Amino acid sequence: MTKIALIGYMGSGKSTIARILSDKLTMDFLDLDEFIEREMKMSITEIFDRYGVIKFRKIESEMLLKVARIQDDIILSVGGGTPVYGDNMKILNQYFTTIYLRANVPTLYKRLANEKEHRPLIARVADQDLAEFIGKHLFERTAYYEQSQFIVDVNAKSAVEISTACIELI
Ligand code: S3P
Repeated sequence: MTKIALIGYMGSGKSTIARILSDKLTMDFLDLDEFIEREMKMSITEIFDRYGVIKFRKIESEMLLKVARIQDDIILSVGGGTPVYGDNMKILNQYFTTIYLRANVPTLYKRLANEKEHRPLIARVADQDLAEFIGKHLFERTAYYEQSQFIVDVNAKSAVEISTACIELI
């Protein structure tokens, strides 16, 4: 059984690359956020608003374990915060081949500046503070992301180039 998990900060391209990989490798694609939304019948933003971030992280860990135990080939894209909480990174490495899609702050800023509203963690960060916020947040998370088995740099690369790099690794 082959299970691959794509890891990285918001805007690093996890879902896009996971979709391409799922196509090229003819494996099912699952986005952990979408899985949570389907199971909870609520959007991620609604879950944050209604239950708060701590409860969201608890739900996220439970759902990750559920997905990890699915007896199927699967390409999973996780949330930007998933690897950071509880035993999630351990679970990811135990059940999946993990690939960190590493993007730098300028790349992430460029992608996130226009779509802040849909992302509860940055929706209220002022535009002029966004780059600094991303920098600090990414720094805090890097130690977890780097526990992935493989790292692929995504800056200035096309989606096709990134997915080809991923396929070469696995
Ligand atoms: C989060 C990233 C989001 C989503 C939630 C929290 C984070 O997923 O899980 O808003 O903590 O970085 P994406 O990275 O898929 O946007």
